[in-house]
Amino acid sequence: MEITSMQDVRLRSKLPSYEALRPAQTPDSPINGLDNLISELHRIFRDDVVNIEHVSEVMASYQSNPADWKKFAKFDRFRYTRNLVDEGNGKFNLMILCWGPDHGSAVHDHADAHCFMKMLQGTLSEVRFSWPDQGGAEEQGHDDDGDDDGEGRPLEEISRTDLCLNDVGYINDSMGLHRVENPSHSDPAVSLHLYSPPFSSCSVFNQRTGRRSQCPVTFWSKRGKKVDKEARSATTPEDN
Ligand SMILES: [Fe+2]
Repeated sequence: MEITSMQDVRLRSKLPSYEALRPAQTPDSPINGLDNLISELHRIFRDDVVNIEHVSEVMASYQSNPADWKKFAKFDRFRYTRNLVDEGNGKFNLMILCWGPDHGSAVHDHADAHCFMKMLQGTLSEVRFSWPDQGGAEEQGHDDDGDDDGEGRPLEEISRTDLCLNDVGYINDSMGLHRVENPSHSDPAVSLHLYSPPFSSCSVFNQRTGRRSQCPVTFWSKRGKKVDKEARSATTPEDN
């Protein structure tokens, strides 16, 4: 996969302190409960030097127990929701995403952040795409006839992966873009996401044209309590 030099520079300026500078360590014992997982993540992220494999292993080591997380898992009938669990002392955001049947995200990037994603219930499909040329021209809005007058090119799909219960996935912008969806027509899915550093907006991409637009990322609930209605309505189905 190729990324533009501008993206490369932006990534390199952000990522070094989080690159794999330490040998990965398997947790001494399986993480017992979500509270212990959060404590362990706080410990890992304390000094800004974080091993990606280690974080993945620690998250994989926690075995999902709905009793731990159901108080955070608030669904919406029409779109997936983002529910803040912990702010990680400003180093990361930990959140639970709740996906009803057939719910999915738009294609998006991750604002130069690391994204870890662990399945707590059900299955999610992750479809990855190459970056469009020059990182994607800004979306100009749609014509009345809804077409794009031949401008832009469809995003190129590079992989497709199903994530099942307790699996952990990882992506950052150097690995491409992705879209996540619940492929089930009947069953919900729940996933635990860690983003570091936290971010408040990302880019979403038109899969047909590669054009990008900026999208705020907001929360449906925080620490088990729904945010006010106005903030909830600002949550777009495209954020992730
Ligand atoms: Fe994502």
